[in-house]
Amino acid sequence: MDKIIIEGGKKLQGEVQISGAKNAALPIMVSALLTDGWNTFENIPDLVDIKTAKRLLKSLGVQMEGDGALKINASQIDNLEASYELVKTMRASILVLGPLVARMGRARVSLPGGCAIGARPVNLHIKALREMGAQVDLVDGYVEAKADRLKGAEIFFETVTVTGTENIMMAAALAKGKTVLKNAAKEPEVVNLAEVLNGMGARITGAGTDTIKIDGVEGLHSVTARVMPDRIEAGTFLIAAGITGGDVTVCGCDPEYLDALIAKLIDTGMEITSTEDRISAKRRGPIRSVDVRTAPFPGFPTDLQAQMMAYMTVAEGLSAIAETVFENRFMHVGELTRMGANIEIQGHTAMVKGVPRIKGAPVMATDLRASASLILAGLVAEGRTEINRVYHLDRGYQEIEKKFSALGADIRRVKV
Ligand code: EPU
Repeated sequence: MDKIIIEGGKKLQGEVQISGAKNAALPIMVSALLTDGWNTFENIPDLVDIKTAKRLLKSLGVQMEGDGALKINASQIDNLEASYELVKTMRASILVLGPLVARMGRARVSLPGGCAIGARPVNLHIKALREMGAQVDLVDGYVEAKADRLKGAEIFFETVTVTGTENIMMAAALAKGKTVLKNAAKEPEVVNLAEVLNGMGARITGAGTDTIKIDGVEGLHSVTARVMPDRIEAGTFLIAAGITGGDVTVCGCDPEYLDALIAKLIDTGMEITSTEDRISAKRRGPIRSVDVRTAPFPGFPTDLQAQMMAYMTVAEGLSAIAETVFENRFMHVGELTRMGANIEIQGHTAMVKGVPRIKGAPVMATDLRASASLILAGLVAEGRTEINRVYHLDRGYQEIEKKFSALGADIRRVKV
C-alpha cells in the first residue's frame, strides 16, 4: 500500500488547477441509467471512487468508453442488483436505487451499513420511494424496491440529505405526475445534477433552494454535460495556503460556492481575492483562531471540517469546531494530537488550543477528508510526516501529491 511522505515547513506558492467534483460526478454518471443512447460527461475526475462507480454501472450491463470525457450508454440494463461488494466499497452506490426503480420497475441494492464517519442510514431514501408508491422491503441486508410506475408525491425530508435528494430527484424525473421535495439539499452538486437531468428532458425547477419541483416525463434522452469543479478540493488548497503562510491561486473553481470557507479564512488573517473562476489566497501575519460550525450548504461544509481543524492547531488562541452533520467525524483528532496538537473533544465540538508548532509523525486516517487534514498538518509540521492508507486520499483527490509538489511542497509517494 502506498505512503505519502512530507518534509514540512515549505511555504506553498503558485497556481493549482482544480479537477471535476467527485460528489457531482458520481450522481451524474448514475443519471445515465435514466436514458437510452450515449451520454457524454466531461470533466470526470480520475479517482478511485469514479472507478468504483464505473464497475457498478458495468455490473448492471451499462456500456462505457473514455475517462475524462466519459461516454455512458444504458440502453441495455441486464442486472438490477448493486452488490454488497460494491456498496460497501462506496456508499454513493445507493444512488442507483431511484433511477433503476423509475426506469426498470425494480432494483435490489445492498444496504450500506455504518461507516467511519457515522451511522449514515438511508431511511429517508426508502421512505421517499414508498411515498412515491414503491413497495420497498429489506431482505437479507438488501433494499428490494419495485413499482410499476412511480407516482409523484409531496416529500418532506426530516434531515437534509444530499444523496437522498439526488436519488429521489432522479426517480421523480420519470414518475407519473408532480413531485415536490421539501427541505431538499441545496448543495451545488444537486444543482449540477438537476441541470444535467433537465438537459436530458426532465422538468425540474428550484434546485439550489429547499423546495425542488419535478414534473415527471415519459422518457429522457441522452445528453452532453460537464461536471462542476470540486469545491472541497479547492477549499483544501486554500487552507493549505493559510497553514503554510503561502500564496496560492486556485484555478478553474467556482468561488461563489466557497463563501462560508472564504469568510472564515479572512477572519484567520488571510487575504483573499477572487475572479469568476479563480481564487488567490495568501497569509503573511499570524493565524487568528476562529470558531467553525458545520452545516448543510450554504453553511460551512463538513467535508472541510478536518482540514480547517488542522489549520487551527497552529493558530493563536482557542477555536471551537462543532460538527453538526455527522456524529462521528473527529477521527483525525487522535492523529493530529500525535503530531503535537492540543485538542479536546466535548460532545460534538472539538476545542482546539493553538500551539506554536506541531511535529511530523507516522499517521493514518480512516476516511478521505481526515487524510487530507493530515497532509495539511504535515505541510506545516517540523520534520517528516508519513501518511499511511493513502487509498483514502485516492478516493477523492486527483494526484494530490503532484499538485502539492508543483506548489513547492516537499511531498512524495512511496510504493510499499
Ligand atoms: N441521513 C439520515 N437518513 C438518510 C440519509 C441521511 O439520517 O436517509 C443523515 C446522515 O446520517 C447524516 C446527514 O443525514 O447525518 C447528512 O447526510 P447526507 O445524506 O447529506 O450525506 P450523503 O449524501 O451520504 C454526501 C457526500 C458526503 C458529504 C455529505 C454531507 C456524496 C457522494 N457524498 O453524503 O461526502 O459529507 O453529503 O455534505 O455526495 C466526502 O466527499 O468525503 C463525503 C463524505
